[in-house]
Amino acid sequence: MGKFIVEGGNSLEGQITVSGAKNAALPIITASLLADSPSTLLDIPALRDVINLCKILRDMGAKINREGNTVEVDPRSLHKSEADSELARQLRASYYILGVMLAKEGRARTSLPGGCNIGNRPIDLHLKGFKALGAEVELDHGIIEVKADKLVGDKIYLDYPSVGATINIMLAATKAEGKTVIENAAREPEIVDLANYLTVMGAKIKGVGTDVIKIEGVDSLHGDEHRIIPDRIEAGTYMIAAAITKGDVFVNNVLTEHVKPLIAKLHEMNVDIEEEIAGVRVSTDKELEAVDVKTLPYPGFPTDMQSQMMVLLTQANDSSLVIETVFENRFMHVDELKRMGADIKIDGHSALVKPGELTGAEVAAADLRAGAALILAGLVADGKTEIRDIFHVERGYENINTKLSGIGANIRKID
Ligand code: EPZ
Repeated sequence: MGKFIVEGGNSLEGQITVSGAKNAALPIITASLLADSPSTLLDIPALRDVINLCKILRDMGAKINREGNTVEVDPRSLHKSEADSELARQLRASYYILGVMLAKEGRARTSLPGGCNIGNRPIDLHLKGFKALGAEVELDHGIIEVKADKLVGDKIYLDYPSVGATINIMLAATKAEGKTVIENAAREPEIVDLANYLTVMGAKIKGVGTDVIKIEGVDSLHGDEHRIIPDRIEAGTYMIAAAITKGDVFVNNVLTEHVKPLIAKLHEMNVDIEEEIAGVRVSTDKELEAVDVKTLPYPGFPTDMQSQMMVLLTQANDSSLVIETVFENRFMHVDELKRMGADIKIDGHSALVKPGELTGAEVAAADLRAGAALILAGLVADGKTEIRDIFHVERGYENINTKLSGIGANIRKID
């Protein structure tokens, strides 16, 4: 199992470039199967989740050619509407196969995505949407099967603005007969990016990015070229790296409107932010003001930035309160931060973060963002931090150690 070794104390300076968004790439690669012709997808990050998804689609018969950050998909040789269960179990987002193959073939099977350590991750809202469109849903021995002779549009209210459910229902509705309305839909930028690609393919979608999405079913979709949006969570992680090390970093390839909540919080903490066309410059040499943070669905403060923000708050001039409202168990990083000397008290969904020095220690990444948070802690801790189980981190950050080394971080990877 790989490890990162981080020596703390360096101020980060220079330019770091953000890759394409993992959470846009996964649904967009899957959506390319809806077309009757090939697509070329650009800025796709070379991450394990992307590699595994391509394996699943190849196993279903699609021709996939991935070179660097370009993925070409030819769906014309597709001959299965079932995802390989072993591979699908390793990748939650494989459940987008359900919406796509239900629309394309009227049936789909995949292994029920397990929970993961940030919560039990139910998919009841996905299934509520499929049933509303006329599909039958069967759960049996960890396999989920959906089928419908015909999908007919309907109005679907989401009890929670779930990103995954909004995406899966939108995918299924692209070829359903008539109009589908998704109310209380999620508004994340990755959903807008997917809808932009589907629209270029010939889908009829209105209102994406608001909480009411209207889809008019069409008979067929054609492949096309699409460049995915930059990863706002990777961008935010590097913005915090600049602030926590009192550095001066230009984070390149950022759509600043996608990181507004973090920019607002960094402003409140006395960090200098300069928004430019290509990205954002983050610098500070001043004391960090304490702020409170509450995670919410977009456009609120993203849950995927909560653990990284918590590390920054340990370096503020007073106590801060962090409230996690999206997932039920997303404080796994706290125990590891305590091993580095952090003074954090958890009470249910809230964590009280007190300021204090961090010292290097041996720690383990519990999940993707918790691992990123430990790297940030290592950058500012006194001494050496050894982070193991970094496969979690590499699921969502392309070449993170190389990129951070490029702006002066003392970080190396041991395989
Ligand atoms: C997506 O997960 C992201 N993953 C997550 O990023 C992100 O944290 C999350 O959205 C919230 O922004 C991908 O895009 C691959 P949800 P998703 O459905 O779609 C409840 C990362 O770090 N819920 O919006 O699973 C659920 O339990 C990952 O990149 C239901 O109750 O998120 C949770 O409490 C981690 N029923 C809340 O909604 C459902 O049917 C948010 O989940 C679906 C969800």
